[in-house]
Amino acid sequence: MKIFSLRIQISVILLVWAVILVGCSSDKIDELSSEKPIHQFSVKEGERLFQRLCFPCHGESGTGDGIYWASSMDITPADLTKFTLAESSLIFKTIKNGSKAQGKSNLCPSWKNNISDEEIEYIVSYVETLRQEPVRSTE
Ligand code: HEC
Repeated sequence: MKIFSLRIQISVILLVWAVILVGCSSDKIDELSSEKPIHQFSVKEGERLFQRLCFPCHGESGTGDGIYWASSMDITPADLTKFTLAESSLIFKTIKNGSKAQGKSNLCPSWKNNISDEEIEYIVSYVETLRQEPVRSTE
């Protein structure tokens, strides 16, 4: 009888451990799967900001054919679909400080007084998806 109850005790301890282990690993899974929705949120927010702030010059697809450019600019707004991932920090700096701070014309405005660094990151995330689109649509 004593041995039997010891076995039960051991089983209970093992069961508790199993529950703890499963609990920990499912936490890990939650952590990993939550990265994607956060990124999707960034891209969506970035798209919203892009449509308001960049679209008039860089155009809907980012290639630089926005309506302002079509009407009056001497210098073509950069084709944002051509930027590599390694150039993301250049995109960030351009949004924050304007093209003049990159030694170019002053036509691409600085947004540092209007939006936060976090919002600039959202726009960069969105611009990164523009770059990937032509790759995806090779049917
Ligand atoms: C008023 C028109 C205008 C708006 C609005 C605008 N841009 Fe630009 N952008 C330009 C022009 C013109 C250039 C090219 C400047 C040059 O080469 O001298 C440019 C260049 C750039 C470059 C390349 C800079 C470099 O050093 O090569 C990036 C990146 C960029 N814009 C991103 C953006 C993003 C992102 C937004 C929105 C937050 C934005 N621009 C809003 C007109 C605009």
